[in-house]
Amino acid sequence: MPKLKTKWVCQNCGYETPKYLGKCPDCGQWSSFVEEVFDSAPNLSNKRVFTDDTKPCLINEIEIDNRIRFSTGIEEFDRVLGGGLVQGSIVLIAGDPGIGKSTILLQTGKYICKNDTKALYVSAEESASQIKLRAKRLGVESNSLYIYSQTNFEAIKKQIEEIKPQVLIIDSIQAVYSEAVTSSPGSVSQIRECTNILLDIAKNKNITVVVVGHVTKEGNIAGPKVLEHMVDTVIYFEGDRYKSYRLLRCMKNRFGTTNEVGVFNMCDDGLHEISNPSEMFLNERTQAVAPGSVVIATNEGTRPLLIEIQSLVGTTSYPSPRRVSNGIDYNRLLQILAVLEKRVGLNLSKQDVYVNVIGGIEIDEPAADLGVALAVATCARDVTVSADTVIVGELGLSGEIRAVNNLEKRIKEAEKLGFKKIVVPSANKVKKEDYTNIEIISVSRLIDAITACVNK
Ligand SMILES: Nc1ncnc2c1ncn2[C@@H]1O[C@H](COP(=O)(O)OP(=O)(O)OP(=O)(O)O)[C@@H](O)[C@H]1O
Ligand SMILES: [Mg+2]
Ligand SMILES: [Zn+2]
Repeated sequence: MPKLKTKWVCQNCGYETPKYLGKCPDCGQWSSFVEEVFDSAPNLSNKRVFTDDTKPCLINEIEIDNRIRFSTGIEEFDRVLGGGLVQGSIVLIAGDPGIGKSTILLQTGKYICKNDTKALYVSAEESASQIKLRAKRLGVESNSLYIYSQTNFEAIKKQIEEIKPQVLIIDSIQAVYSEAVTSSPGSVSQIRECTNILLDIAKNKNITVVVVGHVTKEGNIAGPKVLEHMVDTVIYFEGDRYKSYRLLRCMKNRFGTTNEVGVFNMCDDGLHEISNPSEMFLNERTQAVAPGSVVIATNEGTRPLLIEIQSLVGTTSYPSPRRVSNGIDYNRLLQILAVLEKRVGLNLSKQDVYVNVIGGIEIDEPAADLGVALAVATCARDVTVSADTVIVGELGLSGEIRAVNNLEKRIKEAEKLGFKKIVVPSANKVKKEDYTNIEIISVSRLIDAITACVNK
């Protein structure tokens, strides 16, 4: 019987120490250490046997391996992946509980298995009949989609050898465990070991592996950052729990661009793609706009998105006025308010300011600044911006409007959705004659933008 030893492992970054520490010296996290048991005897499965006789070669002599991509059957999913799943790669899909991770993978499995491609769906969280129930609801039927309810990694490995699937789905990495490591499922050591085995499977057997990962309260993928480093592609599945739409967002991609966003609607019979999300995000907007409501054109990956921003400004009853931002960076909001006070003379020192991006979208690009400024300014002055106007522009500290990228695409999207005017930075050189159905108003200062588009 080998002697069992324990070590303390930081569940945030994987740092190991022989004794408990309150704060991780590596990543700075507090109370992140958990005691894990490990086998002090040398572990065979951890030992990588050196076998091949590869050697370095000149970059000019390397042949490009045309990695084969195949479609997931869901266009939005393909786009986020950079054109489909890559053979022999590992994709991690992370998201909140109940967001629809198992659903999207089962729907993908249905498409992949259409032309007799074999897929193995391993569920470590649900029984086979539970999955069958969902499959029935989603209309998934296939003769080459295998369902396996199992948590033991050694058993899963055996089935992979036997079935030889082209696609392997693990739902989820936090629930499977390997006997080679004695600590409990979901711990850093288990996740690292299981992912290592999966990497081996993907690279050596050329199997495409899709792994589901849970996220923590803070929104990080549970387990160490190493998980994100090890896989080829990291995709977050997000959404508003109380609304039916879902966003698929790529955070890391070794085979394509990141920051692509896919938009879905969650229905009884599964996820439906939404190819024109701007329409959906704006459909609750009424024609008679209230003060403080503004539509902006933001850029999500390669696609422009029109979104409404709302603001509420009112006299405060607190010692210091409140600033609340939903969907835009808090410090960015403070900066915009400072510019409004200094450059436009808007007095907000006794006013509470709330800013909300409709649809639970997180905007992290500065091109939304001008829209936020106008939302706050119109609400404070009780005036409106016309319902047919879109606002685009970054705000500088001296009140100047700075250029934004991809302006043509934003204008086209606004035109397509029937908007009549768009306010853009004059620093962007736009060929106005290219657009016949939309009036382009170029502005260079915040005060000009306010005069140009505010209805008294
Ligand atoms: N009958 C139904 N009609 C419509 N939507 C449903 C129905 N049943 C489930 N759903 C939706 O599917 C979601 C659950 O999907 P799914 O099981 O794929 O999520 P998950 O991300 O895999 O969750 P978990 O983290 O628990 O594994 C529910 O939150 C709900 O929105
Ligand atoms: Mg699930
Ligand atoms: Zn740490």
